[in-house]
Amino acid sequence: MSNLFSSGQLGRIKVNNRIIMAPMTRSRADAAGNPTPMMLDYYRQRASAGLIIAEGTYPSENGKGYCRTPGIVNQQQIDAWGEITAAVRAEGGKMVLQIMHCGRCSHADNKSTTAETVAPSAIGAEGEVFTEAGMKPFSAPRALHSDEIPQVIEEYRQATHNAYAAGFDGVELHATSGYLPAQFMSPGSNQRSDHYGGSLENRLRFVVETLQAMASVDGADRVGIRICPGFPFNDVKDPDPKETFEGLLSAIDPMQLAYLHLMRASPLDVYAMVQEFFSGPFIINGGYNRISGDKAIAERGAAAVSFATLYIANPDLVKRLHDDLPMAEPDQATLYTNTTDGYSEYTNYSG
Ligand SMILES: Cc1cc2nc3c(=O)[nH]c(=O)nc-3n(C[C@H](O)[C@H](O)[C@H](O)COP(=O)(O)O)c2cc1C
Repeated sequence: MSNLFSSGQLGRIKVNNRIIMAPMTRSRADAAGNPTPMMLDYYRQRASAGLIIAEGTYPSENGKGYCRTPGIVNQQQIDAWGEITAAVRAEGGKMVLQIMHCGRCSHADNKSTTAETVAPSAIGAEGEVFTEAGMKPFSAPRALHSDEIPQVIEEYRQATHNAYAAGFDGVELHATSGYLPAQFMSPGSNQRSDHYGGSLENRLRFVVETLQAMASVDGADRVGIRICPGFPFNDVKDPDPKETFEGLLSAIDPMQLAYLHLMRASPLDVYAMVQEFFSGPFIINGGYNRISGDKAIAERGAAAVSFATLYIANPDLVKRLHDDLPMAEPDQATLYTNTTDGYSEYTNYSG
């Protein structure tokens, strides 16, 4: 019977074990969005994961929301990511890049002076975002014109192309946590009257067309999607998330994606939803440990389990889970600072 330590397959991506490093924004890129040497160390230290899903990375200057997050837009960024994927591959690891367009969850201070904050509708998100000058309210967005939407989808296609040029094994569409794809899916942030808003089919159109564009680069079996049905984070307002996400899963199931990455963070029974509406491999996430992770695979149909918080302070998580070793606790104060402290300085278990 399979467990966390069995090899497996996520679309075209073969994994040596089913322990996945979940994407985590850590704000260690430079001000121009270039991955840095400390990011190389950090990811290389975690290469024993079956698969690393690298942090949310912007596909265009408009898509950047937070300070010191990386991009996959220009050659310098592609080259810097390329060094990281090569280092991870040299250790026997695999890497997927999470493509994250923040849409309205952004602040103008965090992006280039020529970039704009765009969203499905001109409705600001309630909440604040970290900037170098402290917390500030989200910037007011401009509604995308109908004829601009294909260009935004093209940004995701180009980012996918760039990610493959940088040596990634696959890409993941970030479609949760209130970012641009979630903004299109949710009636609270999407009040468009064209064919990207209104009916359920219209609200899902942006996500479906974006996945198709990403799959057009080199097949759907290198493309995953991350969702969290019913997660209200970043001011997502959807009166019927069950209907929205059952509709989404039905729409994307025929595409035969590499995987569905499911975050559990709402009372909705995501296992039941997947069982009924999605036939491909799924990665489950949200508070798992060795016992519940094994169970998710053996009894609940998960292809793999992803771990975020545990990966912060335990670079050798696979070994610690396997040998039942104690886990180190992360320092919350250094989650998003810009030094190696609290980042690449956590060490393997040494007794
Ligand atoms: C510091 C930090 C940064 C995160 N950044 C991202 C991100 O960039 N993209 C994303 O999809 N989720 C992000 N998450 C959510 C995690 O991937 C994960 O879903 C969540 O922490 C629950 O998993 P866990 O219980 O294993 O920690 C982040 C979480 C943390 C703690």
